[in-house]
Amino acid sequence: MAFTQRHLLGLEGVPAAEITSILDTAASFKEISERDIKKVPALRGKTVINLFYESSTRTRTSFEIAAKRLSADTVNISASTSSASKGETLADTARNLEAMRPDAIVVRHPASGACHLLARHVSCPILNAGDGCHEHPTQALLDLLTIREHLGRLEGLTVAIVGDILHSRVARSNLHALRALGSTVRLVGPPTLVPRDLAAFGAELHTELAAGVRDADVVMMLRIQRERQGANFFPTLDEYSQYFCLTEEAVRLAKPQVIILHPGPLNRGLEIASAVADGPYSVIMDQVTNGVAVRMALLYLLVARSKGEESGETAAEMIGDAEPVRRRTGGRA
Ligand code: NCD
Repeated sequence: MAFTQRHLLGLEGVPAAEITSILDTAASFKEISERDIKKVPALRGKTVINLFYESSTRTRTSFEIAAKRLSADTVNISASTSSASKGETLADTARNLEAMRPDAIVVRHPASGACHLLARHVSCPILNAGDGCHEHPTQALLDLLTIREHLGRLEGLTVAIVGDILHSRVARSNLHALRALGSTVRLVGPPTLVPRDLAAFGAELHTELAAGVRDADVVMMLRIQRERQGANFFPTLDEYSQYFCLTEEAVRLAKPQVIILHPGPLNRGLEIASAVADGPYSVIMDQVTNGVAVRMALLYLLVARSKGEESGETAAEMIGDAEPVRRRTGGRA
């Protein structure tokens, strides 16, 4: 099944086959970033706007690199340089951007649902780069790609997501996608940070680190989202780290081939020990590398696909993959 969505607003309700088709496309795009000239013409003449109302290092850079590697023109707008600081509403900003005819808008916003609102006001695809505590679909997709690369599958795995689940859009997107693909998902953290209603989406809830990570195939650590916490959810950061910091000792409770993920930014010593973050089970840098491929795949699927359908070009031809040409010409190309 091909990817059929018009926007990428979240992963809740997206069928497994569509998620797999994004991952397969991303896997085939990875090789472009290893080339000497890291550019293919798939999005030539297209304009991608990155509209970021929240700070970001990895996600914004990754989207910009992804768009550039597909030859799109990119425009970056941040909250401090947008008219939001002059009182313009998000819907008005969207209408004005729309009037300049972009081909896609990537949005990060502190309010849950901001991307859904924008999608109602513009005709081009909207890609959610993180909306409040709601969803962060490209992060979950790069996590899934990384897990699939290292462990060869997603079905039947036990994935422990540990930390500030309550405020985590990364946890929600991962929960939906991992459940769709047949993984068991454990949400682990202090009772105040593990919302009980997430059990309705098929999650197992744990309030002790040891029980949560025992025999897990994957452990995904999350940052404490202090910027979103309006109240005290635990006594002190010291106490939090005493109970929930992933140490080498805690890692030994998981499966021998466990992989450790973290979306970044890391708070070393608070949720993850440096020895674990930099240790042999950590795949954190692979996540960052895969982020570019996943975002290239999504921009391609959402923006270039219609162009490809009109011209009759295949995906491989659009990304300048020489393989099919070689196959067709018996290796002479
Ligand atoms: C995450 C985010 O912004 O939601 N980071 C990211 O996108 N790489 C997680 C976080 O901020 O802790």
